[in-house]
This record gives sequence, structure tokens and C-alpha cells, in this order.
Amino acid sequence: MARPELKTSLCELLGIEYPILLAGMGSRGKATPAELVAAVSEAGGMGCIGGSGLAPEVIRNVIRKVRTLTRKPFGVDLLLPASLAEAAKTRSEVRSQLREKFPKHVEFIRKLLQEQNVPELEVDNEVVISDQLIEAQLKVLFEEKVPMFAAGLGDPSGMVPRARAQGMKVLGLAGTVSNAKRQAQAGVDVIVAQGYEAGGHTGKIANFPLIPQVVDAVKPIPVVAAGGISDGRGIAAALALGATGVWVGTAFLVADECQIANAMKDQIVKGRSQDFEIQRFYTGKTMRCFKNAVVEAWNKSGLEPLPMPYQKILMDDWNEAVAKAGRWDLHSNPAGQGAGMLTKRKPARQIMDELVAGTIRALRDLHGTVKIA
Ligand SMILES: Cc1cc2nc3c(=O)[nH]c(=O)nc-3n(C[C@H](O)[C@H](O)[C@H](O)COP(=O)(O)O)c2cc1C
Repeated sequence: MARPELKTSLCELLGIEYPILLAGMGSRGKATPAELVAAVSEAGGMGCIGGSGLAPEVIRNVIRKVRTLTRKPFGVDLLLPASLAEAAKTRSEVRSQLREKFPKHVEFIRKLLQEQNVPELEVDNEVVISDQLIEAQLKVLFEEKVPMFAAGLGDPSGMVPRARAQGMKVLGLAGTVSNAKRQAQAGVDVIVAQGYEAGGHTGKIANFPLIPQVVDAVKPIPVVAAGGISDGRGIAAALALGATGVWVGTAFLVADECQIANAMKDQIVKGRSQDFEIQRFYTGKTMRCFKNAVVEAWNKSGLEPLPMPYQKILMDDWNEAVAKAGRWDLHSNPAGQGAGMLTKRKPARQIMDELVAGTIRALRDLHGTVKIA
């Protein structure tokens, strides 16, 4: 049977069959492993490695693994935080700084672990998000000639000329019109407008007002919509709002190829949209995740979250400890409101096929339900 056709100008720009992109999700390599990235690209979309927080050589290995699984284009996403607190450059040193400067936060976590009967544990690597780390990560992307780079937070202007010279497409994420304009000025090829509904770090503006405003503000730069898109109706709506494609995160977290814990997938499959709330306790920045007892305990503590990277280093050790103890109910689980629509785990290929078929159906149905003259 012929493959269904669903094309926008984005497909030509990125050299892909369908305008559906796997969102870069940086959960220490678990959310977007090579197998998921390659499966999305193989199914006609564009896979994307969430490289943030990974050591440069680890990113290189994932890129090379993707290439053993597919010859189709894919990308790498990195966070380029605009505001990073001055902090040490290794995890152990940041831990010492935490004990010295923020003893109440460290004590709060220690006590919470004790209350939950979870032994303390530290992450066994020295990676800390810093300007130097990002530079080294970008160097790998250039050396490996990755077809697409997505800049999560922050300003990619420094790397755009080199990317352009090398034929690498650059996507810039934005949650407001002003940030989208900044990304346009930085020279990106595509702007990803990410609404309030989204999983992970997110802003305050929902997609219905955000996407059309961004589309108008950055014309003729193509806009891709992100946040809360879990089926073809969402994709059809994004296209109607002026987007040329979609950047989908949460819906792929329940893919068989995604390596987050099964218990985390269950929270997504069983959770309602309202179970995924914005908080700042996992990284210091506003992030939507499954609301668990840890978020509630922080909320009650009266402690302010620390700036990036301190809060993240503190909570990375928490996550390591609870994961080792099998206490996934206490582990962070960033995911979006679109989780409420997801009811089953599936292979990535099936997720992609259903997104494509659902979009075509939704667009066709419109002709039946809406009369225009
Ligand atoms: C587990 C998880 C991790 C994420 N990590 C990153 C990241 O490292 N960089 C980034 O630019 N966006 C990150 N995001 C945001 C996604 O790129 C994307 O914008 C978002 O998932 C889209 O909304 P949706 O989850 O509702 O589909 C993350 C999202 C999730 C759910």
C-alpha cells in the first residue's frame, strides 16, 4: 500500500517525509536513546538526541549509533541556558559549594531521603552544565556533521554561521514572541514555539495564542509547534495556527524504544493532564513534570529553588538515590499535559504512523464538519 502523503515546506527544508520531529529530551540519555531517534527518522519524521547534560564523547557515541541504525537525517538538542549561576565546573566541586552556601537545601534532601528510607547516593560523573561544556558539546556536533541542531534555552547566534557553512540546520526554541524574535535575529532556520502545555522546561503562554503570534512575528521563518501535541488532531490544529510542523516530546516517552523507567511510562499512561504541573524544584527553572510527593514536600518546605546549576546537581543525586532504590514514585518525571491523552505504550513506528494518519483524518474531517462559502 502506498504511504500516506503529508507534506509541508518543512519537509523539504529538513529532507524528511513527514513534518513531525521528535523533541530533544535530555534525561541523561534515557528519554531519547539512539534507538528511538533512529526509529522516528526511519518512520519518516526526524529524530533528535537530547544531548543536554551528556559528556561530549557520550554524545558522539550516540550520534554514531544512530548512524548505524538509519541513514535518514536526525538532530541533536542542547540547552544553552541564558542565565547560569557562577558555579564550579565539576559535580564534586558544586556539591562542596552546595554544602557551604546552601546547607538548608542539602539538609532538606538528606532528611527527606531518611524519611523515605532511601540510602544517599551520588551521580558518578563530573558533568556540570557550563559554557565550557556547551562549547565542547557543539564541537562534537560540528565534527560529526550532524544534520540538525536545536537550541533549547538560550541564544545560538555564536554557532549559526558555522552551522550554515556546514549545511547544518539550526532550530531555536522559544516560549514567547520576544524570544522568538531573538532567535530570528540569531539567524536560526526554524523556530520551535513551545507552549505552556509542554513537558520539561516551559513558559507561561499556551499554544493557541503563542503560535499565531510567533508565526506573524518571525515571517518568513518557518515555525514548528511544541507542547501538548499527542495525536493527529493536535498536529492539524498546529498547522491551522500557521505552524509548518510539530516537535513532539511526551507522546514519544511511552515509545517502547524510550528508556525511561517503566514506572515513569505508567505515570504518563495513567496520569491525567492535571497531574503534570509546573515547578522549579528539579532544575531551578520552571519545568512541567508529574506531581509527586517530592514536589509537594518542596512546596511545603518554604525553601526557594536554587539557580541553575545548583538545584539540578542537588536533585540529580536525589534522582540517583531513589532510582537505585527502585522508588520511581519519588523520581522526577518531566512530561506534559498531553500525557492525559496517552493510554498505551507502543513502538515508535506505530506512534508515528498514527500521528500521520490522525492528522490526515482530522484535516479531511474538517471538510465534512465545516461549511464555508
Ligand atoms: C523528559 C523531557 C526532557 C526534556 N528535555 C529537554 C532538553 O534537554 N532540551 C530542550 O530543548 N527541551 C527539552 N524538553 C522539552 C521538549 O524539547 C519539548 O519542547 C516538549 O517535550 C514538547 O512538549 P510535549 O512534551 O507536550 O510534547 C524536554 C521535555 C521532556 C518531556
